[in-house]
Amino acid sequence: MKHDIIEKRVGLLAVLIALVISVGGLVEIVPLYLSGQVTKPAPGVMPLSALALEGRDIYVREGCYNCHSQMIRPLRGETERYGHYSLAGESVYDHPFQFGSKRTGPDLARVGGRYSDDWQRIHLLNPRDVVPESNMPGFPWLARNKIDARVTPKKLRALRSVGVPYTDQQIAGASAEVAGQTELTALITYLQGLGLASQGWK
Ligand code: HEC
Repeated sequence: MKHDIIEKRVGLLAVLIALVISVGGLVEIVPLYLSGQVTKPAPGVMPLSALALEGRDIYVREGCYNCHSQMIRPLRGETERYGHYSLAGESVYDHPFQFGSKRTGPDLARVGGRYSDDWQRIHLLNPRDVVPESNMPGFPWLARNKIDARVTPKKLRALRSVGVPYTDQQIAGASAEVAGQTELTALITYLQGLGLASQGWK
């Protein structure tokens, strides 16, 4: 049998295995670089404002993604609860994306506008004030810390270098937009924008 020839030669077997895995990998990965569905923004998806971007960095710093996903799967139970399932085109400006994998708390991909700014503020300072059975930790320091406005333009510029279409005007105005704002305001601005683009989708 021809197969014996391969099975009795470890070197040849290794080469062929590497070849099969490489081709299989390329077939899965290459289309992701070429398909518009994953490289172009979904309808209504815009780069984050400077303040929301600072909020996103706080979301990452505080590890919110350890308990919250931002990835609604195309399953009935998920879409009934959270809304339209997540599209790849929603994350094209997200570096790194915040899909997450653990849900100690609810998915946040569509949480924008679900609660008032006041609710978000009270909830982030001490979740038990609005959800008595909550086991989410409070983040009271966010109300005391101010955003460092000097670094914000650099963040926008860094994102532009990886393809987020920030304009010169947005970069020039970034410091003024965040100056004097608390981390709490920035984080709430970020949360309140999550999933807004999807509201017009069917
Ligand atoms: C230890 C896990 C944990 C961490 C860390 C955590 N959360 Fe939560 N979060 C929860 C749980 C559990 C709930 C559900 C109970 C509640 O509403 O408080 C929740 C609820 C929420 C809700 C309301 C969602 C809804 O649809 O009702 C928001 C918004 C939220 N969290 C934001 C955040 C943000 C922002 C951070 C980071 C600063 C964060 N969470 C960190 C566990 C966590």
